[in-house]
Amino acid sequence: MTAYAEPVVTWIAVGAAADVPLWEGRRVTVEGRPIAVFHTDAGFHAVDGACPHRQGPLQDGLVADDCVTCPLHGWRFSLGTGERIGGGPGDDSAALAVYPVVVHEGELMLGLPDDAEPLGLRPRVPSQELAQEARSCMPLDLR
Ligand code: FES
Repeated sequence: MTAYAEPVVTWIAVGAAADVPLWEGRRVTVEGRPIAVFHTDAGFHAVDGACPHRQGPLQDGLVADDCVTCPLHGWRFSLGTGERIGGGPGDDSAALAVYPVVVHEGELMLGLPDDAEPLGLRPRVPSQELAQEARSCMPLDLR
């Protein structure tokens, strides 16, 4: 498991890992909040399910290079850090909350921090270690 800057105090089972095919995403709801879980060749990632632009369904976005591209208007986000990586005009500082996710006995376990208010209502900043581990995402020009 990757280290995060803030400690995880609760792990919640959100579904079977086998239900998230490679290079696809699925939406789960935890305490009423949509979260998108993705499967890449680097493993599983969990981020906010609603795009900060206009609430696009990120689980339906194109996944490549450990990034997801919103299906509505093309904003692109790193699945490792949650930061926005281009994809058109708009707020370059927009970011997604990132949650640790691990597989335990075939089940996806989502980690929630103790400061979730009520659940990650602000972007979480991964540790420096994680930021260095996150693979780079190249801006995607959708024109
Ligand atoms: S809703 Fe995601 S880019 Fe517009």
